Amino acid sequence: MRKKIVAGNWKLNNDKHETAQLIVALLSDPIPSDVRVMIAPAFTHLVQAKTLTEGTALEVIAQNMNAATSGAYTGEISARMLNSIGINQVILGHSERRAYYNETDLSLKEKVVTALEHDMEIIFCFGEELDQRKAEKHFEVVKSQLEIALFDLEPASWSKIILAYEPVWAIGTGETASPEQAQEIHAYIRKIIAEKYDNTLAESVSILYGGSVKPGNAASIFSQTDVDGGLIGGAALNANDFKAIFQST
Ligand code: 13P
Repeated sequence: MRKKIVAGNWKLNNDKHETAQLIVALLSDPIPSDVRVMIAPAFTHLVQAKTLTEGTALEVIAQNMNAATSGAYTGEISARMLNSIGINQVILGHSERRAYYNETDLSLKEKVVTALEHDMEIIFCFGEELDQRKAEKHFEVVKSQLEIALFDLEPASWSKIILAYEPVWAIGTGETASPEQAQEIHAYIRKIIAEKYDNTLAESVSILYGGSVKPGNAASIFSQTDVDGGLIGGAALNANDFKAIFQST
């Protein structure tokens, strides 16, 4: 039985004070025991977030990392640096990183390998763009993304992989995949993992949905058989909205 997961991707939002305020507000009620709840604040606030969440079930994760462990890469953050402050989970391949920082499935494959070498759990994001959906190419797009970035992994490595299907046309647009659209493609993703590996592995992988998840639509999306929770952007910046979403699982 896969445990539901709800992760808040804070992106380029919240200064130090706002980060602390939001964490305190999130912790004002107990985190339900049937869901893993994660937040991804900015790098600069990870240490503070770790301190504030110590002894709680709220998990603090990073939004990105470099494929290299050290070296001449000005402005970058490594898995080793994250490990050293107790961060052992990272989001990789977000569509904004693909669009604005030229990340590709091939370059992400390197990041995945480095993250695994550092025993990190990975939320791997992928999903089609609007024109690809309109051309009904979404199935082949996600298949290719997964094949390139993840399908060379050993089966054992999949215990560290959480998938986040995020159709680019639904991110920050207010437009959401319908629960049926989400279920259809999540089931397809699980099927191609089963074909590449086996059924047991495919059934063990958590597949999150991301893209304009709000308190009003979370329950209907999360109730789909192959949707194991969500990766939340805008609504994760408001404590009441984020709580309502992770309480919808
Ligand atoms: P929104 O929830 O703001 O659409 O963002 C989704 C997202 O990009 C999460 O990573």
